[in-house]
Amino acid sequence: MQVEIVPRKRNEVEADAEIVVVIDKNLDHPWVEEKELLELAGFGGGQDETCFLPEKKRLYVGADSLDHDDIRSAYAAAIRALRKTRAERVKTGLYLGKCSAQNVKAMAEGMILGDYEYDAYKSEKAKHPVKKVTICCEDFGGKTIDCAKAEGYVQNAVTVARAVNYTRSLINTPPDDMTPAELARKAQSLAEENGLACTVLDEKGLEAENMGAFLAVSRASAHPPRLIHLAYKPENPRYKIALVGKGLTYDSGGLSLKPSDYMVTMKADKSGACAVLGILKAVSELGLPVEVHGIVGATENMIGGNAYKPDDVLRAKNGTTIEVRNTDAEGRLVLADCLCYAQEKVAPDYLLDYATLTGACVVALGEYTTGVMGHDRGLKHSFSKAAANAGELTGTLPFNRYLKKLLKSDIADVSNISSSRYGGAITAALFLDHFIEEAYKDKWLHLDIAGPAYVEKPWGYNPAGASGAGVRMSVKWFEQIVKAADKEARSEHP
Ligand code: BES
Ligand code: ZN
Ligand code: ZN
Repeated sequence: MQVEIVPRKRNEVEADAEIVVVIDKNLDHPWVEEKELLELAGFGGGQDETCFLPEKKRLYVGADSLDHDDIRSAYAAAIRALRKTRAERVKTGLYLGKCSAQNVKAMAEGMILGDYEYDAYKSEKAKHPVKKVTICCEDFGGKTIDCAKAEGYVQNAVTVARAVNYTRSLINTPPDDMTPAELARKAQSLAEENGLACTVLDEKGLEAENMGAFLAVSRASAHPPRLIHLAYKPENPRYKIALVGKGLTYDSGGLSLKPSDYMVTMKADKSGACAVLGILKAVSELGLPVEVHGIVGATENMIGGNAYKPDDVLRAKNGTTIEVRNTDAEGRLVLADCLCYAQEKVAPDYLLDYATLTGACVVALGEYTTGVMGHDRGLKHSFSKAAANAGELTGTLPFNRYLKKLLKSDIADVSNISSSRYGGAITAALFLDHFIEEAYKDKWLHLDIAGPAYVEKPWGYNPAGASGAGVRMSVKWFEQIVKAADKEARSEHP
């Protein structure tokens, strides 16, 4: 689907259908020309409610307000309703709110995210009749907007939303097809297409890097592990950022085997890794002035005669010894080595990790919210703000010294699980903290996406399955810190 914005009024553009948004159930707005028909059809204008009037060539959709979240959701619902029609060319006006840029982006984003369906394994493919959407520079509330600037917002939103869909498809791919080696091939093709640097380590490479924790997790798998290091290096970058992603292409739990009900969906345990790939795709296509490194630990967690086991003691890349008490707490072992690698090889200004790390995070925040953890309050706050602006939900979970003590081991430096059944999302993050050097404590942010990364029922503009959680919030945060840095530079050298 193509999305464009033109400096024309709605009645100057020809189309098969127009999307008209009804705000706050107000059917008396002059743009709602078919009030009687709508009432007759029983259309109330509730959020995401749709009504197609073919003879009028109008698709009405409700939104509770002009808030960007409501607009994004309404446009996704509108596109999904139009998929049942034969409308190929669609037009719409502008629905600007508090921040014009944010709403223009929400409209384009909603349509591209809403039109997504994963049908790679279906014999009968999904229909996507809408080929082109023309946004007309005429606002529902009478606001004016610089159409040339708005063009930039649309381009930005389209690029980011496509990167989200790219992440979704990687995650949705079944585990026997998206093996660590295949994920590495995907990273390599992304690198070729987008001019990124890409290095891939196999088992030998991991051994040479002393990644004893990562290697232990991967040992029983028939599909050998890969460490993927992608790098986007623009000229004159404002920051250097390292993103580390948990890439468990399958998590059976290992010898601490998951019950069968819990194993289903564990192909999505690579969501952190796939989010990192999607972020690199977006930042390189947007040409953002930040150097971004993506470091992905890709492996399976399986059972077998040579599987790592509870009672084993592992040695991570930084020399820390780890007592394994549960092989299902494997993501933190893979991340431990990858975090060490990121600090040593990249020496970044910020270090972020993305992982479907704990069921406890889903218990704490619910399925739709990312858990944000770290030492620096300012960093957590600025990232959470960016996430909200991008339309993603986050909740901060606080560290404390008592939870940290629960990771003590009698035989090694640290245990891979807490001795308490409570606070599991935080204790998992505090385990990772053992692999963060002093100089990086305040530069590190841990994002537990176990909830939102993969939900089996559709929610908002997300279909059943992978949502691409993490991509939009991160790109938004990069844009935010670049803006702040440039502002600071201008005030220093006016
Ligand atoms: N991949 C799981 C976490 C998970 C659970 C992700 C549900 C998405 C949905 C992780 O590897 C895991 O199994 N964690 C254990 C940790 C426990 C053994 C301390 C968990 O959450 O139960
Ligand atoms: Zn696990
Ligand atoms: Zn896992």
